[in-house]
Amino acid sequence: MNANRQMAAYTEAARSGQYAKASGLSGKYDNVRRLWEDEVTRNNLRPFLQRLVHRLAQDMRRIRILDLGCGSADGYELLTGVRDRDADLKQMEVAVLPPAAMGLYKGVDLNEDLLQQAAALYGHSPKLLFEQGDFTQGLPVGGDEEPYDLYFMSYGSSSHLNEDETMVRLLAEIADRTPAYSLVHCDWLGRYSYEWQSLWATDVAENRNMDYVVSYIYDGAEREARRDTLQHLTLRLVSRQEAEAMAAEASARAGVLIRPLAFYDRSVLTGRHMDTGDYNAGPQPIRRAVNALHEVNLRTDLSALLFDYVPAKGFPLLNGYYEHLQQCWNFLVGFTAELLDRYDERSRTFSGPIPDPPAACPEPLRHMLERVQRVVEGTGWYGMGLPRENIIEPQLGFALRHLVGALQQGLGCGHGFVGIFEIDKTGTAGAEP
Ligand SMILES: C[S@@+](CC[C@H](N)C(=O)[O-])C[C@H]1O[C@@H](n2cnc3c(N)ncnc32)[C@H](O)[C@@H]1O
Repeated sequence: MNANRQMAAYTEAARSGQYAKASGLSGKYDNVRRLWEDEVTRNNLRPFLQRLVHRLAQDMRRIRILDLGCGSADGYELLTGVRDRDADLKQMEVAVLPPAAMGLYKGVDLNEDLLQQAAALYGHSPKLLFEQGDFTQGLPVGGDEEPYDLYFMSYGSSSHLNEDETMVRLLAEIADRTPAYSLVHCDWLGRYSYEWQSLWATDVAENRNMDYVVSYIYDGAEREARRDTLQHLTLRLVSRQEAEAMAAEASARAGVLIRPLAFYDRSVLTGRHMDTGDYNAGPQPIRRAVNALHEVNLRTDLSALLFDYVPAKGFPLLNGYYEHLQQCWNFLVGFTAELLDRYDERSRTFSGPIPDPPAACPEPLRHMLERVQRVVEGTGWYGMGLPRENIIEPQLGFALRHLVGALQQGLGCGHGFVGIFEIDKTGTAGAEP
């Protein structure tokens, strides 16, 4: 093979994009997106999706999904990646939604470029369909279209419905068009995320929509250099109270109950705007530090994870919640740092006493302290594969994720605020899974 041909092979490889240096430290699919946000979304949806798939199997039907604001079809990957929690280590088929259970996934979006990306990725499959449509104008489905089983919105899509009226109308239409049973997954921006503490309002009639600047895709200096050309979106901020009110209004209008099954806060301290400081100069870039915890071969300065919550005047309940979270989060980080400090790899023992948990330690924190200690003891001596960087730090990341998930209250305190609803016209509304 001559030199020119060899170089052509490298040129092609470079142009394909496959040779680009991928990092989980930044970008849309950073480590927090993949390992926290996607997984938290899946974990919360799992019991309801499992029950829906089971229900359809009993009726000898496959699932039909409508993804509203599908973008480049990330929702498809998200849903097909939900795993059976009870699968053991031997099992290879772990998907709650295996290919054989999938009937149709239809993605609707206003943006043509994103639809083209989606079609390029998945258009070859006859089970996936993409269409342009505007969900602020009503449910984007044809009159003769068969109904769907799961109406899915993810990663803030629901916040594009800036007016309550359009959200209420959409929910009421879904309820109307549900013959027997359907699930609705709404995903908004949380009204009380610490990232935009400057926008919190005691009267929910204020600051309903935020001017959301897409500044996080650039780092520090580049962000400032591009400040004037950054894209802005108008996005609805939603609290639990508002979500419940919209569902109740839509229920009344449709004459059928749109029953909330779960509300939860996602990315409470790790939203993308924690790193930009655009709406709250207080917190340091915690998302960046969490991304580092999960980054292969990278050692993280754990002190970058510690934070000092700055209370907001007039929000005693929220301040109490965030202060408690700060105490728990910082304790777990400090505890891990101390263990690392005291662990002796040769003797496989700690050189000093293990720090005691605080007397008022909540259960989730106590569990995570125990697990982190076991990870350090179990792998600190391992030597191969960089135990701190590649085993202990990612496990601290998962412990923090668990802690935040266990303490969240579904009030609208995360970057994302998710509501899962069911419409059941069969009169057999199941118990909580
Ligand atoms: C935050 S993105 C979420 C994309 C995708 N669901 C995901 O999980 O990554 C919101 C999406 O909603 C789409 N969108 C915004 N307004 C819309 C509208 N009125 N009708 C349909 N799609 C819309 C945008 O084009 C964008 O793809």
